[in-house]
Amino acid sequence: MTIRPADPDRDAAACAAIYAPSVESTPISFELEPPDAAEFSRRIKGCSATHQFLVGEAGGHVVGYAYACRWRERAAYDWAVEVSVYVDSAHKGRGVGRALYTELLDRLRVQGFRIAVAGITLPNPASIALHERMGFQSIGVLSRVGWKLGSWHDVGYWQLLLQPDAADPPRHPRNRGRPPDPGTICAWQIKSSSRSRSSRTPRRPPRTARIATPKW
Ligand SMILES: CC(C)(COP(=O)(O)OP(=O)(O)OC[C@H]1O[C@@H](n2cnc3c(N)ncnc32)[C@H](O)[C@@H]1OP(=O)(O)O)[C@@H](O)C(=O)NCCC(=O)NCCS
Repeated sequence: MTIRPADPDRDAAACAAIYAPSVESTPISFELEPPDAAEFSRRIKGCSATHQFLVGEAGGHVVGYAYACRWRERAAYDWAVEVSVYVDSAHKGRGVGRALYTELLDRLRVQGFRIAVAGITLPNPASIALHERMGFQSIGVLSRVGWKLGSWHDVGYWQLLLQPDAADPPRHPRNRGRPPDPGTICAWQIKSSSRSRSSRTPRRPPRTARIATPKW
């Protein structure tokens, strides 16, 4: 699998298709209508201009995506990002999510962001496992905060300090006026098929090659 910045024209439809089932039939996403390719294209452009929007590609197909955007609008939140990840159902359990997040978090560190936050509609054992494997810590739950599919849902929040040893005052993240960097591609090895979790050795997925170094 290769991981690269998403292309708003080429990847929008594939990302929309991966996301749609989580919108249509689960409370994982609190959206009610799945966004179409044009809307996804706008989201990719918006995220990529300041933060990150990555896709994983295997066999010529997008098999998952991960992105980071602003956590909240107020200026003091400039160092905080909200992250999320979606993997195509046929490719779950093969290390795609972990590879995407590893690459995403590395790039956010390079940009100078300090804290990543993830909101997870409960229950979601796969998402909780992924975030906790990546070092995120649970910070609390908003009870019955969203109404979808005929019931109320809790949302748990997890956070990760991206650079716990960084000096203060913080350098401003390099997130303004950053040109898209479509040439930065990394290759990752993923498992050939889904195996039972008990048979897996927890490990960082091997990054087989960094084909280009981020320029930012
Ligand atoms: C959550 C999601 C992104 C995980 O992606 P994935 O590619 O299947 O996960 P990975 O194979 O990389 O596994 C990551 C870790 O989570 C664990 N994990 C994966 N699925 C799991 C499950 N169903 N139950 C428990 N643990 C699970 C794995 O054991 C792995 O840990 P390890 O590397 O130490 O063995 C994927 O299931 C998905 O797209 N779900 C629907 C959308 C969603 O919930 N997105 C998150 C929104 S908050």
